[in-house]
Amino acid sequence: MKLTTTWLATIAGALLLSCSTPQNEEAPSLKKAYQDKFLIGTALNAGHNYGTDTLGIAVIREHFNAIVAENCMKSMHIQPTEGVFFFDEADHFVQFGEENNMYITGHTLVWHSQAPDWFFINEKGEDVSREVVIERIKNHIYTLVGRYKGRVKGWDVVNEAILDDGSWRNTKFKEIVGDDYIKLAFQFAHEADPEAELYYNDYAMAQEGKRNSVVELVKQLQAEGIRIDGIGMQGHMGMDYPDINEFEKSIDAFAALGVKVMITEMDITLLPFPAGETAEVSLTAEYQEKMNPYAAGLPAEVEAAFNKRYSDFFALFLKHSDKISRVTLWGVTDNDTWRNDWPVPGRTDYPLLFGRDYQPKPVVQQLIDLTKE
Ligand code: G3I
Repeated sequence: MKLTTTWLATIAGALLLSCSTPQNEEAPSLKKAYQDKFLIGTALNAGHNYGTDTLGIAVIREHFNAIVAENCMKSMHIQPTEGVFFFDEADHFVQFGEENNMYITGHTLVWHSQAPDWFFINEKGEDVSREVVIERIKNHIYTLVGRYKGRVKGWDVVNEAILDDGSWRNTKFKEIVGDDYIKLAFQFAHEADPEAELYYNDYAMAQEGKRNSVVELVKQLQAEGIRIDGIGMQGHMGMDYPDINEFEKSIDAFAALGVKVMITEMDITLLPFPAGETAEVSLTAEYQEKMNPYAAGLPAEVEAAFNKRYSDFFALFLKHSDKISRVTLWGVTDNDTWRNDWPVPGRTDYPLLFGRDYQPKPVVQQLIDLTKE
C-alpha cells in the first residue's frame, strides 16, 4: 500500500490520540464534563460533513454533543439559483448529527450576507416587489426547514439584522419587504416545522445598543404571538473585547425575556485587529507581516492569557448555566477557523480549543476542571 501524506497524518494523529491518555483513565471530554450544565457544540465544515477530516471527526465525537452547519445551509450554498437546491452536504451534516446523537442546529435561514442576488431582483436586474421577496423567503424556508423537519432541532432563523448601535441593518430584505421581514421569517419557519426551536442570532451582543434593540425585537415578536425560543450570542471575541460585565448584562437581559440564551459561535482571536468587536464578514484588510505576529508559534505568556480569558468566560457561563442551554465553538481546530483569513487573509490565529495537531490545548483541561469547582 502506498502511504500518502494524508494516511501518514491519520496514523500519526491516531497514535497521538491513543498515547495522550494513560490506559484505564478516561480521556477528558468537554461534553461529559458539562453534561449537567449545557450542551457543548461546534461548527462543522465540508471536511467534517463529507468525512474527509477523520481526525477532526474523532475530536467532535469525543468532545461535542451539539453541531451547527458552518456554511452548507446558507442560502448562497443551498439555493444559489432560484429553485435549484444543493442538499448533499447538508444531508451529510444532519445524518452525522443523528448518527452521533447530537443536537442539530441549522444556520441560517435569513441573512443579508451570503444571500444570492436572485432573492431580490428580476431577470432585468430590477428590484422585485415586496410580495415576490416574501414568496421567495417563504419558499426557501419551507423547503429547507421542511426537508429536515423533526431532525434539525433548532434554527438560526434570522442572523445579524441589528447593528451595534441598535439600529436595524438596512438589508435588501428590510428595504424591499419592510420591518416585518423578521416576523415573517419566524412565522414561516414555525409553519414549516412546528416542533423546531427558533432563534435570533447576532454578534457584538454585549454592546448596549444592540442588547436593547434585540430585547425590543423579541418583546415585539412575543407580543404578536410569534414563536421565538432563544437568542444566540455569537461570541466572536478578542483579548480585550467584549467587556465580560457587559456580556453578563446581556445574558441577564435576554434570559429575562423567558427565552434560552446560547453562545453560538465562540472563538477568541489573538491577532491584532483594528476594528474591535465585530464579525462583519464584509470587512477586509491587506496582509502585512506585523499583523501576523504568531506565525511561528504562540509565546507562553500569550497562551496563558488566552487560557485565562477562556476560563473567565466559561466561569461566567457556568454561573448562568440555568439560563444558558448551549455553548458552541465556531470550529474544531485552529486550522479550520475563519479567523485565519478575516479580515486579513493568510494569517495564523489560535482562537479555538484544539490545536493544528488535533490535540486539546491545555485550556481544555482547565475548562473541564471549572465544572468541578
Ligand atoms: O467553499 C468555497 C470553495 O469552493 C472556494 O474555492 C473558496 C474560494 O474562496 O471559497 C469557499 O467558500 C468559502 C467558505 O467560507 C468555505 O470556506 C467562502 O468563500 C467564504 O466566504 C466562507 O466564509 C464563511 C463566512 O461565514 C461567510 O459565509 C466562514 O467560513 C464562516 O466561518 C463565517 O461564519 C459566520 C457566520 O455564518 C455568521 N456569524 C459570523 C461568522 C464569521 O464570519
